[in-house]
Parts: sequence; structure tokens; C-alpha cells
Amino acid sequence: MCGIFGIVVEQEQPLGEILVQAGKRLSYRGYDSVGCATLHEDGSIDLRKDVGKVDEVAERLRFFEMTGRRGMVQLRWATFGTPSQVNAQPHFDSDGDLVGAHNGNVVNNVELRQQFIAQGMTVRSTNDGESCVHAVERYVDQGYDMVGAIRRACHDLEGDYAFVIGRVGEDRLYALKKGSGLVVGLGEGSSCVSSDLPSILPFTRRILRVQDGEIVVLWADRVELRRVEDGGVIEREVETVAESMEVAEKGGYPHFMLKEIHEQPGVVRELLNLFEASAHVAPMVERMAKARHLYLVGCGTSYHACMLGSVYMARLAGRAAIPILAPQFIAQYGPALGEDDVGLFVSQSGETKDVLNALEVAQERGTHVLGLVNVLGSTLMNVSECYLPLACGYEISVPATKTFTNQVVAFLYLALRMGGRDTAILARLPGLLEETLDLIEPQAAALEANLADRDDLYCLGYGLTYPIALEGALKLKEVTYAHCEGMLSTEFKHGPLSAVHQGYPVIFVAGPEDVPLIVSGVNETTCRGGWAIAIGEEDDRLRNNAHDLIRLPEAGPLLSPILATLPLQVLSYRLSLARGYDPDFPRNLSKTLTVD
Ligand code: AGP
Repeated sequence: MCGIFGIVVEQEQPLGEILVQAGKRLSYRGYDSVGCATLHEDGSIDLRKDVGKVDEVAERLRFFEMTGRRGMVQLRWATFGTPSQVNAQPHFDSDGDLVGAHNGNVVNNVELRQQFIAQGMTVRSTNDGESCVHAVERYVDQGYDMVGAIRRACHDLEGDYAFVIGRVGEDRLYALKKGSGLVVGLGEGSSCVSSDLPSILPFTRRILRVQDGEIVVLWADRVELRRVEDGGVIEREVETVAESMEVAEKGGYPHFMLKEIHEQPGVVRELLNLFEASAHVAPMVERMAKARHLYLVGCGTSYHACMLGSVYMARLAGRAAIPILAPQFIAQYGPALGEDDVGLFVSQSGETKDVLNALEVAQERGTHVLGLVNVLGSTLMNVSECYLPLACGYEISVPATKTFTNQVVAFLYLALRMGGRDTAILARLPGLLEETLDLIEPQAAALEANLADRDDLYCLGYGLTYPIALEGALKLKEVTYAHCEGMLSTEFKHGPLSAVHQGYPVIFVAGPEDVPLIVSGVNETTCRGGWAIAIGEEDDRLRNNAHDLIRLPEAGPLLSPILATLPLQVLSYRLSLARGYDPDFPRNLSKTLTVD
């Protein structure tokens, strides 16, 4: 999740400090490299960038000395191209007349780079941010003005992104929004543009929210919004924002957990774009397909994703994959591991000690080690033979939400690829997740009062929804401190059914294919006075047998379990607040467990 910030001021002045501070405010999004560019009135551009943290790179490259009338800073989270000085942003065009930086993913980056090289342009990196600059350069060279060139570049650059760009000899910056966030700030004698609000608030509270398909032209004393479609000027009222910096960092949500729940459609979209264009997916699939034994290894939420991944792989690729908790992996399979085996290690943080211990054992036995990891630069990323990023940006709340969803989406994508199937069914997912979030909020609110004081409940699922039930139960436990046990629905009758008494809450997560089996479990509960809450697609059998149905949009058996995760997250969040707790930082827990 890269971040960009650009500023235009009235006269040449020191800009380095401003850019460093803006960069720091963007840093919560996650990054591996940082760069600044300032444009001087004499037509020169000062560009400094490298891999590392803002403070360290700023010190080393002396960002504080940078002056200019226009400046930009970019924090890069590597997607296209490894983290390196040359791939860090901003980027020049061929002649150094344009400088720009982006946020997001240009999915046809490889094809575009080939075109630019064939047209004689100087392409220095493999980063897609550079493609944004060359895409504009191509039309500037044909005689278009900057707005005309950006409009045309926008049609060439596929994907979800935003960029900021400046040209020597001018007094303005330009920015384009197509999928990624972009906000404009109107200060006293300056204007700025950024991926998000926190970096703008120190300058001004007067803002304009840019929409997709819009170009911003920024001067020191004014801004202009134009449509990509026809170049026409857009009139938009300036908004004055009241939110505190803390709320702004939470994207306007009261807690990071809720913000991260609502980020899920966006991060799924980003991951799919990334995978479609990634050169790492094919070798990873090939390595897994050739494995003698394939192990999916993780802890907590990441393990639940492995469980669902295993079901997807069997179902879509006919491939048996063994999901296993990391410490048990050592005890159960350590002695049997061999050089033909593959372990796919899954971790949000990439630093969980239990996972790294298991990985070490696998490496000692010569087993191939692959990674699925959110935090880039983490140990798991560094030691894996090959890794795929989860592309979620920072997940700050201790309960994992968006990273679970992207782990599962990654597994579904890999399983489809391993089975030689079309991945197109995933294109519906971001929209379905948005629809689900809209649908479930009032439904979860309606259940809250009755569930808030329960200290004991079950969450059951079957087949594809079994891992979702375990994950839902973990989430409820983690943030409400109530005891919620996740279980295979058919196992309930083998013992735990004895806990059921009048009004005892049991949540059933029903996949569309498994409704009859789930309904049996529902009836075993209700006939003993239990309170059955079903989560599933609209179905008379669920509606007529359960007391409550949290309805999901129709998505089919493969996608429905992913949607079913959302009501359990939202319910956990609401119940945590209702019980007076802080869902972001539950007691006794830590985001990254670096201990045995
Ligand atoms: C889930 O909400 C937890 N915070 C926890 O179970 C977590 O998934 C587990 O500790 C593993 O962490 P990792 O993905 O960073 O390895």
C-alpha cells in the first residue's frame, strides 16, 4: 500500500522537512522504500530515493536540504519489482523533464514497458510508477498539454492507482485518481494532494475529495478538477473537515478493526490485480503441484486460512494439501519431511516464532519453503524461496480481519491456477464484499442486544464453512473475552450438544451446498431450546428452521464462505464495544508473537 504526497507553494523555499513529515504520516500504510523530488524555478529537479525507513533514508540522503516550489514524496510497498534504489519512487521520464510517483497497481505494466522501450524511451526500473510517468511523456512528446496527456495516459494505464506528476518550467503539479485514494488540501499560500487525510491535516482542514476518473491541477493559490472523459472542469464544494488526526488515521472509523473490516473489498481488488500481473504466481503453483507432500503451515487466523486453502486445493486442483498448526507441524511431520516436500508458510506478520521454528525444521530437512506474507521485509519473506505478498497494507488492530480474507483469496486463486481453471470468478468478489458489508450491518445490530451478555456460545460450520466457523469463534473470543467454541457442525451432537439449554446461542455458518446438513444441526439445537442463528444465502430452509438468519448475497459455494467471514467480524466488533472493551487491543494479546 504505497502512499503519495505532493505540494505546491508560492515561492522557492525549503521543502525537505515538509516532505519528510508528510512521508511519516503516510508510513502507517506500510512501505519498504522512500523518495522525494523537488522542482526548482530554474528548471532543475532534485530527486533522492532509496530503500529504507523514512528517518534513516532522510538522514542519509539529506532530504532536509531539499528546496523548491513544488515537491513530492512517495513511500513504496514493493509489488512490481524488488525493493531497490532504482525501483523506489518518484521516477523521471526519459529526459528528466517530468517527475512523478504513484500509489496502487498498473496491471499492464509489463506490456507498457515493452512499448515504451520499443518507442525509444529510457526505462530505468521495473516499477509500475515509472510507467505512469512514461505514459504521460508519450503524449507530451506528441504535443499534448499536460492535462491532455494525462487523460490519454489514463486510458493506457490499466488497474487501480493514483499518481502525482510535475513538469519542469511550470508552476503546478497534476494528479490523477483511478481506483486508489486521493485527497486535495487547500492551505494558505499552498495546495497539496495526498493518498489520504492524515498527511494533509497539518496544513489545512479545507479539502476536496477527488473521485475516480478525475485529474487535479494544483497551483499554490488554487486547484482545478477536470474530468478524464472530456477534459471538462468540475465544480466541487470545498469541505472543511473536523476530525482529529487520530480519527483521520483510522480513516474516519472509531477503531482500526472497523476500518480494516471495511478495507476488505479494496484489498481483495488490489491482491487480484497484483496476482494477475505477478511473475511469482506461476513458479509457486508449479512448485506446489510437483510436491510429494504439500503442507500449509500457520497459527491462529493464518492457520484457519490454511484449512480453507486445503479444501479449495482438493476441490479445484485435486491436490491433497495438509493444513497444520506450525508447532504441531514439527512434532507430527518433522521427522518425515523430505526434499520433495513443500511447506507453504502463511503469516500476516512473517515474524511469528512458532511459524519460524517450523520453517527452520523444514529447511534443515531440505524441504522447499514458500511464503504467503503481509509484512514485506519480514523474516518469512526473506527466507522463503519464493513468496507472495498479501497486499493488505498495515493491519494495526490485533484481530486479523483483512489479512485473513486476502490469505483465503490467495489460496482460492492458487487453487484455481493449480487446477488449470479460470480465475475470472474472483472478479465478482470485491463487489460482493461491498454488498455484504451493506447488508450485514443492520442484521448484526439487531442481534447485538441479545448476544452482548452471553459468556458462552458455539459457532459451527461444515466443509468450506468449517474453517470460517473456527475463525469466527476465534474472533469472538479474542475481542469479547466470551468463550466461543468453533466446531464442525456434525461433531456437535457427539458431545457439546449437552451444553444446550433454553436460549443457548449457537451460530451456524451455512454454505449454499450444505444447507440440509446444517438444518439438521439447527434442529438438534432448537428442539432442546437452543437459539440458532444461521449465516448464509437466502434459503427458506434456513429461514424456517433457524431463529435468525444473517443473510448474505448470492455468491455460490466457493465465494460464500469468504462473505460469511464478514458478519462474524462485524458481530465480534460490535459485541466487544457493547461489553466495554477495546477491540483493537484486546487484553493479554499482541499483534506479533515472537515468543515460543
Ligand atoms: C488473529 O486475530 C490473531 N491475532 C492471531 O491468531 C494471529 O493470526 C496469529 O498469532 C498468527 O499471526 P501471523 O499471521 O502474524 O503469523
